[in-house]
Amino acid sequence: MAEIKESFFSAEGLEKRLNGKKFWKVMMTEYWIPKDINFLWAMGVVLATTFAILIISGIFLLMYYKPDTALAFDSVNYTIMQDVAYGWLFRHMHGVAASVVFLIIYIHMFTGIYYGSYKKGREMIWLSGMLLFVTFSAEGFSGYMLPWGQMSYWAAAVITNLFAGGSLEAYGLVEWIRGGFAVGDATLTRFFMLHVFLLPLVIIKLIVVHFYTLRIPHVNNQNSEDIDYDAEAEKYLAGNKKEAKVIPFWPVFLSKDFAVLGLFLIFYFYLVFFNYNFAMDPVNFDPANAMVTPAHIYPEWYFLWSYETLRGPFFDMFGMKAGDIGLMIFGLAQGIFLVFPFLDRDPDVLPAHKRPKFFIWFWILIIDLLVLSVYGKLPPTGANAWVGFYATAVFLLLWATLPFITKSDAKARGAL
Ligand code: HEM
Repeated sequence: MAEIKESFFSAEGLEKRLNGKKFWKVMMTEYWIPKDINFLWAMGVVLATTFAILIISGIFLLMYYKPDTALAFDSVNYTIMQDVAYGWLFRHMHGVAASVVFLIIYIHMFTGIYYGSYKKGREMIWLSGMLLFVTFSAEGFSGYMLPWGQMSYWAAAVITNLFAGGSLEAYGLVEWIRGGFAVGDATLTRFFMLHVFLLPLVIIKLIVVHFYTLRIPHVNNQNSEDIDYDAEAEKYLAGNKKEAKVIPFWPVFLSKDFAVLGLFLIFYFYLVFFNYNFAMDPVNFDPANAMVTPAHIYPEWYFLWSYETLRGPFFDMFGMKAGDIGLMIFGLAQGIFLVFPFLDRDPDVLPAHKRPKFFIWFWILIIDLLVLSVYGKLPPTGANAWVGFYATAVFLLLWATLPFITKSDAKARGAL
């Protein structure tokens, strides 16, 4: 180690020990971002900000929330909503952010899919992103349980029951997860621990890994151009800013991000003050009651598409029970996006509009997910059940054809 002569208590001494200027350069002023990007590339920063809002509003809620089945409902609906000054504001901020964060995650994810940002050196960004998606889903699910309303209780009962594995009857596992034969006090306290401690900790670590994996390959751009970052950075630093294809992360890229962030925050606070109900299910304003099952049990909107794949196969097929088939498809739906970079057989990074067959595949997937989400909330009877069945079949077909479609696009372009 080089000898440090400067005192610990001087600015130079601290700088020598912390190396802050170098860190600032590597992470901010000489971290290069392509110029050819649009507002969709601001979603990462919007996500990071929404996560910060969730943490801060969550800390305030934590001061009055009681993780006990006898007290939880009242602590949320009376103490926080009516007794504590501005308790309602923090609850609305938390509830709306928890819903909106999934909207932004989906936009961010599908931007990555559209522009092919998950391949050729960016696989780790995709994998860390998908792990964030899975952890956020667990965070959303565990949070939904905390107000201990009717939907909290019954959604927890249905989802934890999935771990019985249908005909596998892995009942020991469900009991282990619930901490008892039925969803109860032990379930609430362990999901509380997951929601306020373990999962946020994992999310913070994963965000650091996600940012780290971004630093070397740099973000993609609208035309997926393979930029020589060293050469372009040299142009920028030499003052040739107009010709350079890159801009520094700070202050140029972030100032653009802040503009998008500003618009997002207007939309977000509009929802918080005037339209918070969309993030709160009316059924959940009835206290949990193990003796009364709600007419329809459904999860929050962001889980509806995968929930519908569970209900899609509503009759026995191929000698298997409908419930078992649904469970297998549901399991597949949770993991299939993770392996996206490996199912796409096209070696080139290109936006979807330059990959004709993939372009059609992409939009059918979006429409299919929307149909699954709409029908996931409706009772699965009559025509609804058939729409769910076909939409689930299309979902499976799309994934089965992805390797062939992407290969065929590459062949037509002469890349294979
Ligand atoms: C809290 C969650 C997340 C945060 C804070 C976050 C943050 C970011 C940031 C700041 C960027 C760079 C700028 C941008 O493209 O927006 C980025 C890029 C990226 N993220 Fe995330 N992200 C999150 C979740 C996800 C998820 C769920 C996925 C989906 C798998 C994902 C996949 C990607 C990809 C593929 C890129 C590279 C985009 C490109 O190269 O153009 N991220 N993320």
